[in-house]
Amino acid sequence: MSKVVLAITLFSCIVSANSGSNCTDQVTFDQITPTRELIWHPCYTDYVCAKLDVPLDYSNPQGTRAAVPIIKIPAQLNGTNEKYQGLLFTNPGGPGNSGIDFILTMGYSTIIPVIPKTYDLVSWDPRGMGYSTPYADCQIPTTRRKSKRAYGITGPDISSALYEDQFQTAILYGAQCSVLIGGPNDAGPHMSTPAVARDALSIVDAFAKTKEAKTVANPTDFNYWGFSYGTVIGQTFASLFPDRVGRFALDGVIDAEDFYSAQFYSVSRYDDAVMDLFFDYCFVAGPSLCSYYTGSSANDLKIRFLNLFAQFDVKTAYAENWDNATTIDQSLGLVFANIRSIVYSPITGFPQLAEVLTAYEVAVNNLTIDGIVAAGQAGAPPSDTPPGYTPELAEWPLAVACSDTANVLYNQTLKNFTYSNARFANESYTGHVGWSFFKILCTGWSINATWVFNGTLGAATKNPILFVSNTVDPAAPIEK
Ligand SMILES: *[C@@H]1O[C@H](CO)[C@@H](O)[C@H](O)[C@H]1NC(C)=O
Ligand SMILES: *[C@@H]1O[C@H](CO)[C@@H](O)[C@H](O)[C@H]1NC(C)=O
Ligand SMILES: *[C@@H]1O[C@H](CO)[C@@H](O)[C@H](O)[C@H]1NC(C)=O
Ligand SMILES: *[C@@H]1O[C@H](CO)[C@@H](O)[C@H](O)[C@H]1NC(C)=O
Ligand SMILES: *[C@@H]1O[C@H](CO)[C@@H](O)[C@H](O)[C@H]1NC(C)=O
Ligand SMILES: *[C@@H]1O[C@H](CO)[C@@H](O)[C@H](O)[C@H]1NC(C)=O
Ligand SMILES: *[C@@H]1O[C@H](CO)[C@@H](O)[C@H](O)[C@H]1NC(C)=O
Ligand SMILES: *[C@@H]1O[C@H](CO)[C@@H](O)[C@H](O)[C@H]1NC(C)=O
Ligand SMILES: *[C@@H]1O[C@H](CO)[C@@H](O)[C@H](O)[C@H]1NC(C)=O
Repeated sequence: MSKVVLAITLFSCIVSANSGSNCTDQVTFDQITPTRELIWHPCYTDYVCAKLDVPLDYSNPQGTRAAVPIIKIPAQLNGTNEKYQGLLFTNPGGPGNSGIDFILTMGYSTIIPVIPKTYDLVSWDPRGMGYSTPYADCQIPTTRRKSKRAYGITGPDISSALYEDQFQTAILYGAQCSVLIGGPNDAGPHMSTPAVARDALSIVDAFAKTKEAKTVANPTDFNYWGFSYGTVIGQTFASLFPDRVGRFALDGVIDAEDFYSAQFYSVSRYDDAVMDLFFDYCFVAGPSLCSYYTGSSANDLKIRFLNLFAQFDVKTAYAENWDNATTIDQSLGLVFANIRSIVYSPITGFPQLAEVLTAYEVAVNNLTIDGIVAAGQAGAPPSDTPPGYTPELAEWPLAVACSDTANVLYNQTLKNFTYSNARFANESYTGHVGWSFFKILCTGWSINATWVFNGTLGAATKNPILFVSNTVDPAAPIEK
């Protein structure tokens, strides 16, 4: 029993020794005053939090300040044999995801079991997001609008009217963001990836000055495990600060050249391949485990899927002036968006996908938008909201992608996207609408970032980088 007590005391008083704060005082991010030194506070029961005070614009260090929220799960040293190794950072990707929420939801369950306990597991929020100050909120409604033909998935497409709608949405969002977060001291101009990477460097610099860093072999190294868009942060960091690269793994690697050049084509390339795997796995699982099971081969499942899409015959519906033409069109858009978002997380999504596809088959027989929306929720897992969770805003991914691409898509006409839309359609049938729509949003984004990465990707890094990728990844393909 005394051992247990000792462990608990030790945990909070390690915190206290460094921070000077009350051991039992739990804080939330809004209660932390940003400081230039790294000062940790116990927070959210099992975590430790800090808020670093940094320049809003690193090219103007005397100017306005920004606050970078940081969270950690402390190292757990096992007796005296193990040596504390400092901070191991992670980022979940997006762009637009909060690193803090990633640690709060998946830190203990998913990351901690597979990393050495000799590191503190750490994440920080990208500029403008999560618990950051300044915060990017352009009051956009929270209902987020959310291949290769070789995989043999093809079918009817949404009409050009829906692309036009998206184009108008882009202009609206852009104008709203420009007013609400576009000022020099607002978040908008400071959300580009180099600033996010530079914040990580600031955290490491601050850590290197703390007492606990004294025993760490390489306290100024940035140790990092980044996922998906988090690999763009990693590639950017390594290119800008190669001599600060410590233990470094980039997992689910995004093609950063494709990203920075405003193409984004590579991200949708495997959506149809993931669908094909769904047909395979559903068939292998059998009818008792997969409600979508049918016929006598995985291909029979694919045929069932194509038959569903065939009923959304948008072209014929408009050509023949069917009463339901607009409903069919909008429903197909919703179906594309929903399937894409489920396929994005196949491990959790596949069981749900079986339910959703079955529900769509029923809904299409008596087609209404409400019916399609309801069917799209079939089998959805209950959302797990961590303590203090801040919902992700639609403008965050937009701010990052449009900034990083130096606003080259700004003020383009819808016609300018003809090639891009067709290219996405070539990459993936199931994913193309989502990605085309996302890219179009940049046409409204007029806020110029103060820091655009304009260097060369790649560098002679202090330590080698481990690149990790899946054979089939819905967003981060292993090949170009
Ligand atoms: C620490 O915080 C607790 C709870 O807020 C409070 O009751 C206690 O008096 C504080 N102790 C000190 C030494 O500040
Ligand atoms: C700590 O040491 C104990 C006893 O040697 C061992 O059972 C345990 O797995 C170790 N824990 C870690 C996290 O290494
Ligand atoms: C179709 O849906 C409408 C309401 O959405 C309902 O009133 C009607 O009974 C349904 N028809 C059939 C055949 O299910
Ligand atoms: C739409 O209307 C047409 C013509 O009335 C009908 O044949 C078709 O089944 C309807 N489609 C859907 C998906 O409701
Ligand atoms: C946007 O493009 C139009 C031409 O299509 C041009 O007249 C206008 O000046 C541009 N606006 C900005 C802010 O670049
Ligand atoms: C966009 O299209 C206009 C004509 O509609 C053309 O003048 C312009 O060069 C295009 N911009 C880009 C970046 O392709
Ligand atoms: C799409 O694929 C078709 C058939 O392979 C090809 O003719 C067309 O040029 C491609 N379009 C784009 C924009 O890649
Ligand atoms: C953003 O940059 C573009 C191109 O450099 C420039 O034309 C435009 O005026 C800038 N916009 C603002 C709001 O400063
Ligand atoms: C690249 O960006 C840096 C930092 O914003 C800037 O100082 C430099 O002039 C830019 N170089 C080019 C070639 O645009």
